[in-house]
Amino acid sequence: MDGNGRWAQQRKLPRTAGHQAGVKAVHKVVEFCGHKGIKVLTLFAFSRENWNRPESEIGSLMELFLKALKREADQLAENHVRLRFIGDRSGLSSELQKHMRLAEEKTAVNEETDLIIAVNYGGRWDIVQAARSLGKRIETGELRAEQIDAGLLGAELSLANLPEPDLFIRSGGDQRISNFMLWQLAYTELYFTEVLWPDFGPEEMEKAVAVYAGRQRRFGRVPEQTGARADDEC
Ligand code: FPP
Repeated sequence: MDGNGRWAQQRKLPRTAGHQAGVKAVHKVVEFCGHKGIKVLTLFAFSRENWNRPESEIGSLMELFLKALKREADQLAENHVRLRFIGDRSGLSSELQKHMRLAEEKTAVNEETDLIIAVNYGGRWDIVQAARSLGKRIETGELRAEQIDAGLLGAELSLANLPEPDLFIRSGGDQRISNFMLWQLAYTELYFTEVLWPDFGPEEMEKAVAVYAGRQRRFGRVPEQTGARADDEC
């Protein structure tokens, strides 16, 4: 969800105003996914690298998360959304941790849409914590190093119980992954747009989904094996 700061600067507003407008965009996109039957949506709200921002911006982002959680948890529960968080919670305030847990509990029975918010998350952190947990199993003698394969490592990662993402969208014009779901994105289609996150909404989602629908996913196979014509290759 990139571009909040620039959106605000363009309007001569403080960066925080961009993040506030970003929350409204989150609303629209979650609603879109519910209507269109998109089952899983993962949003990158705060990276481990974001701690390097000015303290005042970090403070207002954390406040914004907390307020949004307190305000939205009931509505998400009513709208059949199951909310989950990924990332290192130990770096967050105990109040925020508490409300994250409460919102997860409140929405746990829902199955229509999975909304996952990545907070204090990083793809490398996730792989490291998975490796540590395999290491511990080796220490206890439960596992031998030779038994480790992609399946075993993948099972220790955040979101192990969900399908790998079909589509990655980055708003705000930069064309990089910035440490988001590094393992899970191995075969994900990438989509980059100049649109700043606060301006991102249903029309932008429609565009991204249309581009995705035109892509040919081969997962290492040749076009003939995927049922597509060779001249469709892209
Ligand atoms: C990146 O834009 C955005 C963030 C670091 C924060 C994203 C958070 C929100 C949109 C709020 C989400 C809220 C909930 C409840 C999930 P940037 O500040 O880096 O923008 P810039 O590149 O223009 O400076």
